Amino acid sequence: MKRLAPSILCADFSRLGEQVAAIEAGGADLIHVDVMDGHFVPNISFGATVMKSLVGKTALPFDVHLMIEEPDRYLKEFVTEQTEYITVHAEACVHLDRTLKTIHDMGVKAGVALNPATSLRVLDWVLELADQVLIMSVNPGFGGQSLLPYTLEKVRETAALRGRPEFRNPELAIGLDGGVNLENLGRALEAGADILVAGNSVFKAADIPARCREFKARMI
Ligand code: DX5
Ligand code: ZN
Repeated sequence: MKRLAPSILCADFSRLGEQVAAIEAGGADLIHVDVMDGHFVPNISFGATVMKSLVGKTALPFDVHLMIEEPDRYLKEFVTEQTEYITVHAEACVHLDRTLKTIHDMGVKAGVALNPATSLRVLDWVLELADQVLIMSVNPGFGGQSLLPYTLEKVRETAALRGRPEFRNPELAIGLDGGVNLENLGRALEAGADILVAGNSVFKAADIPARCREFKARMI
């Protein structure tokens, strides 16, 4: 099942509740929560407090994307009854195997994010531990960037990995994050992406629910 995960990094924070209600009305499937620490990425966004302000205010599950150094320090802050995924960057984890197991022990699905230049080989020994592989299609830190076309090849290769007979995690979800819009959506889906993160292309639309419905209509 293909899922739409609008990134609230690109929402109007002065009206965050309304904006989340708008994506929910439009049929979005997840709220992508972009957490940035100003160290792992050259930008600071928000912490768990902002995400927790949405608990109970929306039925949408949280797809937490931690763009932070040493994420182990903060994992439990992001565990709520609505947290479906916590995704950490392979580049930010010294002990990725342990971090993914820690996320699972907290009762949450574990994701691994890879920056554009990072090889899929870093997944070799942890792919069966991951519930999501998040392929970054921009260099992380900011919304509104253009999708780097070569990253769609990484999506394709991850989908091929998942299809290997010896691979015991056929439920693995492939996320694509950065610069996704209605123009490149078809190529992203064809490459094998399951969770489509969209920031500016959703939240900068004049009619947010309609834009979400446009995405969803093409994701069937
Ligand atoms: C970038 C974030 C993305 C971004 C998406 O570091 O991880 O989720 O906010 O925004 P767009 O879709 O505008 O690139
Ligand atoms: Zn993100």
